[in-house]
Amino acid sequence: MISPKAVLFALSLALLAATAPAPSADEFTRVPLRRRISLTRSDNTFDHDEAIRQNVKTANKIRRNIINIQRNTGQLPAGSIEIPSIATLPSSLLGKRQKVPLTDLEDDSEWAGNITIGTPPQTFFIDFDTGSSDLWVPSSACNDTCTGKALYAASKSSTSARKDGTFQIEYGDGSSTSGPIYTDTVTVGGIKATKQYFSAVTTESPEFVGDPADGILGLAFPAISNLGQDPFFVTAFKQKHAARDEFAFKLNTTGSELHIGGVNTALYKGSFEYHNLSSDIGYWQIGNAKALINGESAVSGFETIIDSGTTIMYGPPDAVKKVYAAVKGSKIYDADNGFYSFPCAKPPTLAFAWGGKSWDISFANLNLGETEPGSGQCVGALAGQDLGLGSDVWLLGDSFMKNVYTVFSFAIAKGAVGFAALK
Ligand SMILES: *[C@@H]1O[C@H](CO)[C@@H](O)[C@H](O)[C@H]1NC(C)=O
Ligand SMILES: *[C@@H]1O[C@H](CO)[C@@H](O)[C@H](O)[C@H]1NC(C)=O
Ligand SMILES: *[C@@H]1O[C@H](CO)[C@@H](O)[C@H](O)[C@H]1NC(C)=O
Ligand SMILES: *[C@@H]1O[C@H](CO)[C@@H](O)[C@H](O)[C@H]1NC(C)=O
Repeated sequence: MISPKAVLFALSLALLAATAPAPSADEFTRVPLRRRISLTRSDNTFDHDEAIRQNVKTANKIRRNIINIQRNTGQLPAGSIEIPSIATLPSSLLGKRQKVPLTDLEDDSEWAGNITIGTPPQTFFIDFDTGSSDLWVPSSACNDTCTGKALYAASKSSTSARKDGTFQIEYGDGSSTSGPIYTDTVTVGGIKATKQYFSAVTTESPEFVGDPADGILGLAFPAISNLGQDPFFVTAFKQKHAARDEFAFKLNTTGSELHIGGVNTALYKGSFEYHNLSSDIGYWQIGNAKALINGESAVSGFETIIDSGTTIMYGPPDAVKKVYAAVKGSKIYDADNGFYSFPCAKPPTLAFAWGGKSWDISFANLNLGETEPGSGQCVGALAGQDLGLGSDVWLLGDSFMKNVYTVFSFAIAKGAVGFAALK
């Protein structure tokens, strides 16, 4: 039986909740992001080694996604003929550490912000990746490979539960990260998901040593989850914790943020141009794309994956060759890795369109730096790479996303990506 006293207490709690000043929407839904790692050195030249590292990292992320899709759905994604072999770093780069100090705020390839896991909350600094679907952080059982990171202590969280199985990821330097699987309460920008699946890894790959981010939070769909579980946002939206089933990114030198449960109207102007997802394979993938050089179509009718966890933009080698063929003075810079250069003094305007407006890539976002000091040739942030996605799928990372305000919506059709002009 419930005592009258308990009823009164519950009632006063309810009243308290009703009269307490509500946190502003922004406090609840904004995650400020900090950027890091540049492919451009401080003397404005192209950091070739770092670019090759990023290529290998991207290729192996896509490879893992393909493996996960096959395991979760029983088939390879359309366009993928086979699981690509693991991409490896050239021996000259193995063991060579990044020269760029990773705390350098001039960095520019990965945007990270805080999340909490557990009860009471444990804070982690996380990369938000729309191109993968798992959450992992370092575990308190991790030894020297996790030095300097925030560590998840399952024993200190009253809502933590250990699950069966092990999570494992291989990297291009031959290392891997792995760890046990848990569920716990995860909060991102005030939006909560309870019983969220994630891994607390007990070894970190050398790829992450010195990286200010503790781990990764994947923002794509369940089909590409290595854990075979709903990613954070899918859980949060199913549990109806967010006002609207969408999240939006602004990525820029300063003022970058992830907005959850809606869009931040202070950051864009005009209306959104929405595109329904063209594939239910698990990516934020939209079709009917066109690449333009100086307003003229160079390649059209392809698919694009919008990926905040990828630094630059990649297309199939033949298609990217066509794009640069339309650029006066362009040259192949590194055939093995698909990099081209263009005259810095006469940069092309590269744009993408999906049947609506053309979204220009600014010179600052297209230029990865001069090939050599004073060469006058700048390396372009669009590279030709066969990532195993098939012959008509491009991967548009931060070099594209920095030019637009992007919303990722589960609320429209079976999912849609919307673009608006930055204010
Ligand atoms: C993340 O949280 C830490 C404290 O746990 C704080 O010092 C830091 O400024 C936060 N970073 C961002 C980008 O919000
Ligand atoms: C970490 O070190 C402790 C003590 O040396 C050892 O018992 C444990 O197995 C190690 N854990 C891992 C994941 O290597
Ligand atoms: C992006 O950052 C640069 C450098 O801080 C700034 O000049 C520019 O106004 C910013 N753009 C937007 C849309 O915030
Ligand atoms: C997007 O999907 C919605 C719902 O399925 C549909 O009504 C709309 O026509 C689609 N838009 C386009 C451009 O295909």
